[in-house]
Formats: sequence, C-alpha cells, structure tokens
Amino acid sequence: MTGRLAGKVAVVTGGASGIGAGTVRRLIADGASVVIADVQGDAAAKLAAESGARCRSIATDVSSEPDVAAAVDLAVAGFGRLDVMFANAGIFGAYGPIEKARMADVDLTWAVDLRGVFLAMKHAARVMIPRGSGVIIATTSPAAVVGGIGNHAYSAAKAGILGLMRSVAAELREHGIRVNAVMPGAVVSAMTADLVLGEASAISRVTEALAKGAPRNRPGLPDDIAAAVSFLVSDDAAFITGHTMVVDGGLTTIGGDSPFAKGKYATPGAFLEAGRRRT
Ligand SMILES: NC(=O)c1ccc[n+]([C@@H]2O[C@H](COP(=O)([O-])OP(=O)(O)OC[C@H]3O[C@@H](n4cnc5c(N)ncnc54)[C@H](O)[C@@H]3O)[C@@H](O)[C@H]2O)c1
Repeated sequence: MTGRLAGKVAVVTGGASGIGAGTVRRLIADGASVVIADVQGDAAAKLAAESGARCRSIATDVSSEPDVAAAVDLAVAGFGRLDVMFANAGIFGAYGPIEKARMADVDLTWAVDLRGVFLAMKHAARVMIPRGSGVIIATTSPAAVVGGIGNHAYSAAKAGILGLMRSVAAELREHGIRVNAVMPGAVVSAMTADLVLGEASAISRVTEALAKGAPRNRPGLPDDIAAAVSFLVSDDAAFITGHTMVVDGGLTTIGGDSPFAKGKYATPGAFLEAGRRRT
C-alpha cells in the first residue's frame, strides 16, 4: 500500500455521515485502515462495506465509555494498533433561548459533544502511550469562538474541546502523541441540511443554500475538512500539536454582520476622517 498514511490505523467517530464519512474515504485513499465508530450502525456498516478490506465499523455511542473502549479495541484487534483518533462525532443538540433551556437536552449535547471527545482521547491515549506515538484530532466549531453561530450548549461544548485539546496535548507530548483540533465552518452535511432546511437528507439543496453568499459561490465540503485531517495526522505535521486548524473559507474572519465591512464604513479613508473629527 502506498500513500502518505500507508499502514496507519485510524478510528473515526461520527464516520457514517458528513465530515466523518468524507474523512473515512480520504484516510482510506491515503493508505490507512479505518474503524468507523458511529451511533448509526447500519450506515457505518454500509460505508465500511463500500470501502473494502481496510475498513470496519462498530455501532458506537460516543457518550458511552464501554462503546468507545470497544471501538479502540476493534482497531487494535482488527488492524494491530491505533495511530489516529478522529474524535468527530457531534450533534447540534439543545436549541432555544437560555431562559427556556431544557436541561435534559443540554446534558445530552454535552454528553455527545464533550464527554464523547473526552472518552475518545482517554481510550486513544490508553493504547497510544505504550507505543509512544499517535495523533488525536477533535472537531470543534466556529461556535467555540463566535457567539450566535451555535446554540449555547453546543458553543460551550465546542469551546470546551479547545481547552481539553490543549490540556491533553500538553500531557501527551512527552509520549510522542500529538493532539490537535479542526474547526470546520458551514460544511455541507446532514447536520447543516437539518439546521438550514429542517431536512437532514436534503444534501443537494443545502449545497446550493450554503453556496449562496459564500465567496465564489462555493460551499464548504467534507473533503475540505478531510484534507486538513489527512495533513494533521501525517508525518508532514510531526511538529504540530496543541493547534486548532480553522477550515472555514474565512467565516470567522468576517465575524457576522459587521457594520465596519459595509456601507459608508467600507469607503477608503472613512476611519481616518472619523478619527480626525473625533466622532
Ligand atoms: N457541518 C458543519 O458546518 C460543521 C461546522 C462545525 C463543526 N461541525 C462538527 O463536525 C462534526 C461532524 O458533523 P457533520 O456536519 O459531519 O454532521 P453529520 O450529522 O453529517 O455527522 C455527524 C455524525 O455523528 C454521528 N453521531 C451523532 N451522535 C453520535 C453519538 N452519540 N455517538 C456516535 N456517533 C454519533 C451521527 O450519526 C453522524 O454520522 C460534528 O462534531 C459537528 O459539530 C460541523
């Protein structure tokens, strides 16, 4: 097998759909073997069957410690070891204003989006430390750093991932294990189709919807995130740890509906004039 990830073994949580599925395909194409760990067991099994002998699947709820442990153990038993953990599974989760938040929804959001990533890191470390190598990547979101993009519980979980990632990166560096995050923005997936159109399967329509207003009418695609993950887990990124790679087509550079980017404020020199007038 050739390819920059030839011989490496990965677990991809949330690998049955969207960004995870795109990354499964990319890692396989780059030469890795992959275990898809997803709560949608049937969809995970279907993608594994399509992907050939270097791909297996296991029905996994990432908020369950025995499930996550079993996914890691399947990688070791099936392919000999674990080099890569992509802790990617996530849900948008609790929705609505803070004063009306349903705490059961909030707890579920944190269980999947934060506890699930914590467990993936814990069990990846369990088998990576004895080998003295490995790479862990977690999927965060622009909602971690920009208010108003996600719901409160989701934003908190995705910000929590950044703190967790840096803390674990600091601990595991002496074991030769790198820990990083990817921050995708507005990527075509079941999650965004559900959010934008209220229909998780409306992938072609959400592709059009996300293209509108995006630079060059080009939406973010799972392949964009997969390419970043492929780089971060490769030996080309051997000195990169504790890093958050933003892959959002510039979404977080705009910061929403800024008055400074529009109208009279877009006129060159406008700020100089305002400064002189002290307004
Ligand atoms: N699409 C975007 O624009 C975007 C932006 C920022 C961050 N993200 C993050 O990217 C990740 C992937 O999302 P996506 O957009 O590909 O959505 P998606 O819904 O297409 O994929 C999410 C996958 O996670 C799985 N999953 C959900 N709960 C699970 C659980 N408890 N255990 C195991 N698997 C579970 C789902 O079955 C699904 O296969 C998520 O963490 C999401 O928060 C997405």
